[in-house]
Amino acid sequence: MRIAVLISGTGSNLQALIDRAPDSDYEIALVLSNRPQAVGLQKAQAAGIPTVIIDHTEYDSRESFDQAMIEALDAQQIDGIILAGFMRILTPAFTLHYLGRMLNIHPSLLPKYPGLNTHQRALDAQDAEHGLSIHFVTPELDGGPVILQAKVPVEAGDTAESLQKKVQIQEHIAYPLVTNWLAQGRIQLQNNQACYQDQT
Ligand code: GRF
Repeated sequence: MRIAVLISGTGSNLQALIDRAPDSDYEIALVLSNRPQAVGLQKAQAAGIPTVIIDHTEYDSRESFDQAMIEALDAQQIDGIILAGFMRILTPAFTLHYLGRMLNIHPSLLPKYPGLNTHQRALDAQDAEHGLSIHFVTPELDGGPVILQAKVPVEAGDTAESLQKKVQIQEHIAYPLVTNWLAQGRIQLQNNQACYQDQT
């Protein structure tokens, strides 16, 4: 499967996807960033992956920005979209265009803490465990059907920063795995649910 990874920042999940690509059924055909300075672009370039910058500040609406992304992605015959720290809210037109073919990784145990500052919110709530969720993207922000979650313990002395580090270690294992499941057709979105296909 030809996938595009959409980023806005550091791209550590992108790097994990790059590292696992040789053993996987996905090919990272494009990395798209909405921020020209995203550090992740350098990771893509170092791996020889084509990059495209579509700067959201140059568009006067979410609709026109998303339409420009659709045109860039479809021009490269992209089959799957992997959101990896992509910090823009997507329009229904975009999410529906790639429905069932687009994944997001979110640093909380959804449905807890959609949106930002998830690590601090888990600390403030005195949660005993925290983690990440990988889900199909639907028009509802951080609300699509969850495919996989990984948990980490919240321990005495944890800070938002230490929790983020713990969660990211798990992210870098989980996201390439689930992306490969998507590429292999092992997971599908059916009736707004994540379904697992028996491959035997
Ligand atoms: C990850 O923690 C992910 O859960 C969230 O954004 C972060 C991106 O980090 N959606 P990176 O750019 O992959 O390092």
